Amino acid sequence: MKGQEWYQQETVVESYEDKRFSRGGGRLTDRLEKAAVFESLAPVEDKKILEIACGTGRFSVMLAERGADMVGLDISAPMLGEGRDKARRTGVDDHMEFMRGDAARLPFPDDHFDSVFAIRFFHLVDEPEAYLREMARVSKGQVVFETYNRFSGRSLYNWALPMGSRLYSRSEVDSMIEAADLRLTGETHEFVVPFGLYRKLPGSVARAFRTVEETIDRTSLGDRLASISYWNATVE
Ligand SMILES: C[S@@+](CC[C@H](N)C(=O)[O-])C[C@H]1O[C@@H](n2cnc3c(N)ncnc32)[C@H](O)[C@@H]1O
Repeated sequence: MKGQEWYQQETVVESYEDKRFSRGGGRLTDRLEKAAVFESLAPVEDKKILEIACGTGRFSVMLAERGADMVGLDISAPMLGEGRDKARRTGVDDHMEFMRGDAARLPFPDDHFDSVFAIRFFHLVDEPEAYLREMARVSKGQVVFETYNRFSGRSLYNWALPMGSRLYSRSEVDSMIEAADLRLTGETHEFVVPFGLYRKLPGSVARAFRTVEETIDRTSLGDRLASISYWNATVE
């Protein structure tokens, strides 16, 4: 599994948000991802939600701020430490719990949460079916996950990344969903310009790219070229 050791390193963790989400195009992608996650899960108020591989709690804290009863699970103690600090600063630590654990063996009974989701996680895993099955087991309703797409701009530079990423075809996603006894209820395809490239751009250039991208997104070509997809599924 990629990334387990990588995200234990203090230097990687300290710069995780700063490098990816705090400036220019990175800040824009952070906002767009948060909007996509919120739309997939809304309404979230009083819902019991689990985030797998929550990292520094970018999404968990945002959902707790909107009234969700959140649990964020991650294997990296330093990433969770950043998340706890953020929850305290934001004032949501009373309905936000961060837990250290392995997504392969979730420490919860069956049907424990209303919704379970994972963002920027499935590109790291070798056996996606097993992880998705485990997410489905602890959800009594909704499962949302994101994949990086095989036939997209991402595949042009994936080989150059330090860890590379597992990229998914549509048929792989369909068979994962079937193997986990889930039913697909919605899908959103985003980022013709992959977000790894976005974050290298100054804000004004990124916003101009985004305007062009939104026009392409409204076409079926946009769906086919998108570098990431959000899959919204329900437990059968
Ligand atoms: C790219 S980060 C994404 C964090 C967060 N979801 C986000 O989008 O900001 C990947 C995260 O997966 C976590 N991770 C990797 N393997 C894991 C496992 N087996 N169980 C739980 N978390 C894991 C890492 O520690 C890291 O925090």
